[in-house]
Amino acid sequence: MTTLYVPKESQAGETRVAATPETVKRFVSAGLTVQVEAGAGAEAYLGDEGYRKAGAEIVSPEARGRADVVLSVAPPTPDQIRAMASGSLAVSFFNPSQNLDTVRALCDHGVSALAMELIPRITRAQSMDALSSQASLAGYKAVLITAAALPSYFPLLMTAAGTIKPARVVIMGAGVAGLQAIATAKRLGAIVEVSDIRPVVKEQVESLGGRFIELPMEETGEGQGGYAKEMGEDFLRRQREIVSEHVAGADVVITTAQIPGRKAPVLVPQEMVERMRPGSVILDMAVTTGGNCTLSEVGREVVHQGVRILGPENLPATMPRDASVLYARNLQVLLDEVLVEGRIEYDLDNDVVGPSLLVHEGTVRHEPTAALL
Ligand code: NAI
Repeated sequence: MTTLYVPKESQAGETRVAATPETVKRFVSAGLTVQVEAGAGAEAYLGDEGYRKAGAEIVSPEARGRADVVLSVAPPTPDQIRAMASGSLAVSFFNPSQNLDTVRALCDHGVSALAMELIPRITRAQSMDALSSQASLAGYKAVLITAAALPSYFPLLMTAAGTIKPARVVIMGAGVAGLQAIATAKRLGAIVEVSDIRPVVKEQVESLGGRFIELPMEETGEGQGGYAKEMGEDFLRRQREIVSEHVAGADVVITTAQIPGRKAPVLVPQEMVERMRPGSVILDMAVTTGGNCTLSEVGREVVHQGVRILGPENLPATMPRDASVLYARNLQVLLDEVLVEGRIEYDLDNDVVGPSLLVHEGTVRHEPTAALL
């Protein structure tokens, strides 16, 4: 019988958990044995008792070595991979380009890996798309954090003591996180302006009540798989000139711009920050991939000429319960793709499993990662 193991996350600040009582129940009814490390869900307010009632066994960390499948959130360490049984499967975020030692351990130790960030952006895979489920939480939380940090209101208020103007929010990058940020900032009553380089985004921005900042696009910014492509320095300079006018009048700037596998583009250099009013707030959601703002620092607040620049590291982990509920469902639906009558079977022609298998039978299947090694 196939055994799944769900550890307590070990990375500092990781409060999420890869299974919930709801997904455990589904696995158990599919004929699997589910083992959950004691306290695994504690930081997401999911107690051991709930997992036990759903049919899981509560176990100690040694169970990792006996499991057929280990489900986790943060990329496993090389030691955690070496503690797994050879021939078993790890399902997690791997952030492979930053964790090449883990990729080597997977190959050397004969552990297969399904990487959540490699799930293709196709309609059929939407229910497994953990990048999207987590980015959406992050976009929402980013707005709440900036609203709380701002010395002003977000909405227009007409009071007996006078009128308060609505806050002006500029959002750069209208992917999954950016669109959720637009919707959240609009709900709070702000005026929202948005910059992106993919033309399809304009309509989505406007349907959420945002104003799209037009850029002189001589070529499309649309890359492969619905993602953006890397633009040349000339274009980025012109983009900064145009966006700078909007940023100068903004109370809040939230940046989410990413290029898959590349350093994040610089959109808010120091001179742009210096045009903002003291008390304004920038939140750089791309801080861990190099940052869209040159002054942001991972996990820290930097104050530059009175402008607060925030670089939170793991926003989904600040909402661990819903983040875990959504992530656990993404994993459970993905696992259905490799489970055949309660056993793991890899169909490499499966349009989700094929591209998501980072390592299988000692070989790195993801070409960009293989090239880095
Ligand atoms: P992401 O996190 O890679 O990038 C965020 C945003 O930054 C993107 O909208 C990108 O165009 C933008 N960006 C890049 N360079 C920029 C620049 N110089 N200036 C301004 N913006 C810049 O992308 P994310 O959010 O993971 O997904 C991007 C798109 O993928 C979605 O909007 C959607 O179209 C597509 N998608 C499709 C799915 C499906 O069909 N299953 C699921 C999820 C996403």
